[in-house]
Amino acid sequence: MYIPFSKIPLAGNELKYLKEVLESGWYTSSTKVLLFEQLFAAFVGARYACAVNSCTAALHLAIEAAGVKAGDLVVIPVMTFTATAEVVRYIGAHPVFADVDYDTRLMSPGGLQKILDKNTGIKAVIPVHYGGQSCVMTTEDKTGILDICSRKQVVVIEDAAHAFPTKFGDKYVGSFGNVTCFSFYANKTITTGEGGMLVTNDETLYNRVKVMRLHGISRDVWDRFTGQGALWEYDVIAPGCKYNMPDINAAIGLAQFEKAEYFRMQRQRCALFYMRGLSDIPNIDLPVCREPVENHSWHLFPIIIRPEAPVSRNRFIDLMNEQGVGTSVHYKPLHRMTYYREAYDLKADDFPNAERIWQGTVSLPVYPDLSDDDLMYICQTIRKILS
Ligand SMILES: Cc1ncc(COP(=O)(O)O)c(C=O)c1O
Repeated sequence: MYIPFSKIPLAGNELKYLKEVLESGWYTSSTKVLLFEQLFAAFVGARYACAVNSCTAALHLAIEAAGVKAGDLVVIPVMTFTATAEVVRYIGAHPVFADVDYDTRLMSPGGLQKILDKNTGIKAVIPVHYGGQSCVMTTEDKTGILDICSRKQVVVIEDAAHAFPTKFGDKYVGSFGNVTCFSFYANKTITTGEGGMLVTNDETLYNRVKVMRLHGISRDVWDRFTGQGALWEYDVIAPGCKYNMPDINAAIGLAQFEKAEYFRMQRQRCALFYMRGLSDIPNIDLPVCREPVENHSWHLFPIIIRPEAPVSRNRFIDLMNEQGVGTSVHYKPLHRMTYYREAYDLKADDFPNAERIWQGTVSLPVYPDLSDDDLMYICQTIRKILS
């Protein structure tokens, strides 16, 4: 028996919608993409959605459309995937790295405030809703990330690669910010194979993203969604990108989207099983959920092996693997990655929480197909290794 770290759940209608695309004779962006965008925007409660071929593409388009320019500074957390930082470099801007909270691994409003007070030239912030839990975006006393940034006229671009469907308070992530980017990569909460979605309520930003998503071609004369097909004449108004999502991917996404809340509830079942099954094991720290449990997408369930545990994190991973359980690590923080460490002279001492997390962090399997027996076996294996 082997329990893999990740397994894509089939929602049911994937083949049906794919067949429709294959039979339509139009594989690239068309009616399936349009429908996916409309349904997604309506679900999260945003005015506009733009489907692209990755979350990385969405983040790139978002910072470009938000007006971030070469030489500007953009705050990002170190506890994230490299995509969050690399898009800043794509346009010649520079990341400013923030530590995260130990308990939640999220960028804290307090930490962000200190960075904004210390640095001039910060144009944008990319908070990451790590693991599927929303950062503190807005509060009654106006001390959330959006509150602070709006006072400082700093743009907020949300990296919601892990956060569909995630709520902050009673609102979905994607409904209340400036611009929010989701991932549909194979291991994400819903998938299109590769893919992403940018959502916003800002019409100007949306129009820029639509143009830059497809080579900078003016939409006025290149509208595949009007039923007129691809018109032969078009104008290029900017050096854009080739980031559109094909209908083949949108077909899979539409099927997965139908089951998004069911999938979330199944991942929540896994998370609650772990919370109960692991809470009395010494020497591990469980993830802390600051919001109601239903607000979390539970993309990840990361535990931390404390330094006083009988085995190191690396040994723990090996032993779990020997016992037939796949795990992963999210993340080796960016201050430990050669490029960022050297380019920005980053020191581990400046990121004490991310450093502590990194030394001990292990992500456990979380996906709808995990049975309670699988979860029981995983908990028993962890108990055996750590006692
Ligand atoms: C936090 C975060 N941001 C961005 C991305 C990029 O997503 P994609 O693979 O869809 O480009 C990922 C991918 O894992 C991620 O984890």
